[in-house]
Amino acid sequence: MLRALLPADAAPAAALIRECFAGQVVDPPASAGRETTAGIAAALAAGGGFGIERAGPLVAVVLWQPAEGGLYLGRLAVAASVRRHGLAQRLITAVEQEARQRGLPFLHLKVRLPLLDNRALFRACGFVETTLHAHEGYCFPTYCVMEKRLNPAD
Ligand SMILES: CC(C)(COP(=O)(O)OP(=O)(O)OC[C@H]1O[C@@H](n2cnc3c(N)ncnc32)[C@H](O)[C@@H]1OP(=O)(O)O)[C@@H](O)C(=O)NCCC(=O)NCCS
Repeated sequence: MLRALLPADAAPAAALIRECFAGQVVDPPASAGRETTAGIAAALAAGGGFGIERAGPLVAVVLWQPAEGGLYLGRLAVAASVRRHGLAQRLITAVEQEARQRGLPFLHLKVRLPLLDNRALFRACGFVETTLHAHEGYCFPTYCVMEKRLNPAD
């Protein structure tokens, strides 16, 4: 079942995000690997999120927040046991519907450059890579911004 995240979901959502990002070896390490209940509670207050439950617990989550004229999508995380079943795609579609309801013309997100599978996932969902960026203290690009423009007629 896909539903909007509630303040009471902050602790399990943070735990799922930490677990999902734990196996990711990136430089610098992903801040998502240190996500906290307070961090998720603050993010939900500033925007919102969606989650998918399977037989009780949350197995997939995503957060969204209005930013820079569009809707920013972050902390997309799907439990390892249920990957490649289209759950990430369903969550991205839910964020897209949220943006349309708010009349926001595009979605945007950040993705680490070495994570080729993730870049392929977002491309498959209609995102394009727009700009390259370096984390503070790095002299080479470490991540890119991806955007999906939303056609109001769709
Ligand atoms: C990235 C992540 C959210 C994908 O979740 P998922 O539910 O497995 O993704 P989906 O099943 O919706 O995948 C949709 C499509 O994206 C592409 N895709 C997803 N994972 C892929 C992979 N590992 N390799 C290649 N393509 C992939 C495929 O086109 C896939 O469709 P298909 O299965 O029909 O081929 C999940 O692997 C995860 O939680 N990873 C750790 C946290 C993370 O990296 N989050 C994103 C940060 S930018």
